[in-house]
Amino acid sequence: MQQLNLGMIGGGTVGSGVFHALQRNGALLAARIGVQINVRKVAVKAFDEPRPYTIPRKRMTTDWTEVVNDPQVQIVTELVGGTGLAKTMILAALQRGKPVITANKALLSQHGEELFAAARKSGANLYYEASVCGGIPIIKALREGFVGNRINALYGIVNGTCNYILTRMKREGADFDVVLKDAQAQGYAETPPDLDIDGHDAEHKTGILASLAHGFWVKPGQIYVEGIRHLSTLDIQYAEQLGYTIKLLGMVKRTGRAPEIQVSVYPTLVPNTHVLANVNDVFNAVFVRGDVVGDTLFYGRGAGKDATASAVLSDLADAALDLKQASQLRVPPFVACERNGRVVPRDEIVSRYFVRLSVVDKPGVLAKVSAILGQAKIGIASVIQPEGHKGVSVPLILMLHAAPNGAVARALGKIGKLPVVKAKPVMIRVENFD
Ligand code: NDP
Ligand code: HSE
Repeated sequence: MQQLNLGMIGGGTVGSGVFHALQRNGALLAARIGVQINVRKVAVKAFDEPRPYTIPRKRMTTDWTEVVNDPQVQIVTELVGGTGLAKTMILAALQRGKPVITANKALLSQHGEELFAAARKSGANLYYEASVCGGIPIIKALREGFVGNRINALYGIVNGTCNYILTRMKREGADFDVVLKDAQAQGYAETPPDLDIDGHDAEHKTGILASLAHGFWVKPGQIYVEGIRHLSTLDIQYAEQLGYTIKLLGMVKRTGRAPEIQVSVYPTLVPNTHVLANVNDVFNAVFVRGDVVGDTLFYGRGAGKDATASAVLSDLADAALDLKQASQLRVPPFVACERNGRVVPRDEIVSRYFVRLSVVDKPGVLAKVSAILGQAKIGIASVIQPEGHKGVSVPLILMLHAAPNGAVARALGKIGKLPVVKAKPVMIRVENFD
């Protein structure tokens, strides 16, 4: 059987997960692809850092250049993270003609165009299944499975940490900080976890999916992002009473002016009748609407050592087969096939809204609020004033019809300054998946 040597950079949560998965299923993989993959070296930062699975000391080095420079290493994994040294590591391996497998969505999102160009130039491929949604083979599905579709819409719960936090806040009324610590302890969160809770990890993944689906690179700054830091159990409870669950959703939608797309990440009220409302804990799901295939759904663990290792092994099989057959992947990792692609500016993004106001309990308040919305041509779909509240202010919940983001933000700015409004208005978008 053909033998190939793997050089790994990074032996932490994901890296040690890959090492362990290869020990467990390396023979199975070899039987399936006809190539035996041997781990030759694993570069880490320090030998005695704790890692979820043990890596024998004799395989480890603290000098990553030993991995890329070793003539016996034919495939390299970058499982370090970050956008600085990791980029140097990948480029160094590609320049030596070695295919690279990465899980680094932050790096890809920011420098994807440059890295794919470097891969094309070197003739070695760059594989990135593990960069989006852990164990779910969504990159392969979009790249190969849906190669004959235009992707009209894509909705994803793509951050395991946020979904874990939101699930436990809803289920147990748990405290945000306590659940975040738990997510960190289980190896789900990024370092620092702000990347997760401020929505940037989801931004990176949504950008990669948007780029792959639409053939032009969508950079992080072009994506409208809000995280989950400001969400309260109160809003989670009101949403529940209205028949919704709050999820951090990454969305990519074709507008009526294709090749224009709307790309965003924000907490969203998802109707409880929609399948995405029932994706809980660290699980991720991506709902893809293709113009030929119709609606499809992908579901699985979005983070953690083993789920992510599964995606790396899939890339490893592709890389090994490409080397064995001296070919590139059938469908290239990323093709810039759309020259006129445009991302809708954030103020033009259209959605429906849930708004919670804290107002004085007096007649005439609603008239003042609706006058401002009316001037901005924003329609009110329903108004709810939950009973049983006493004190200087009471909650007033408005469900608004679809309107552009900029118009709603400006109107809420004015409403927030009304003397009858006692706190900054809370606004969460609503999605009906039409
Ligand atoms: P960890 O922090 O657990 O692991 C990082 C690894 O990189 C460690 O082994 C560390 O060494 C090593 N490292 C750091 N600096 C260097 C260096 N200069 N030279 C050599 N090795 C170095 O991170 P994760 O495994 O969680 O994440 C790795 C990548 O995978 C990131 O891009 C992340 O975004 C991505 N990812 C993570 C997922 C998850 O669930 N955790 C899921 C999907 C993607 P040492 O062990 O000595 O500290
Ligand atoms: N921190 C990421 C998450 C890891 O929670 O989804 C998986 O990419």
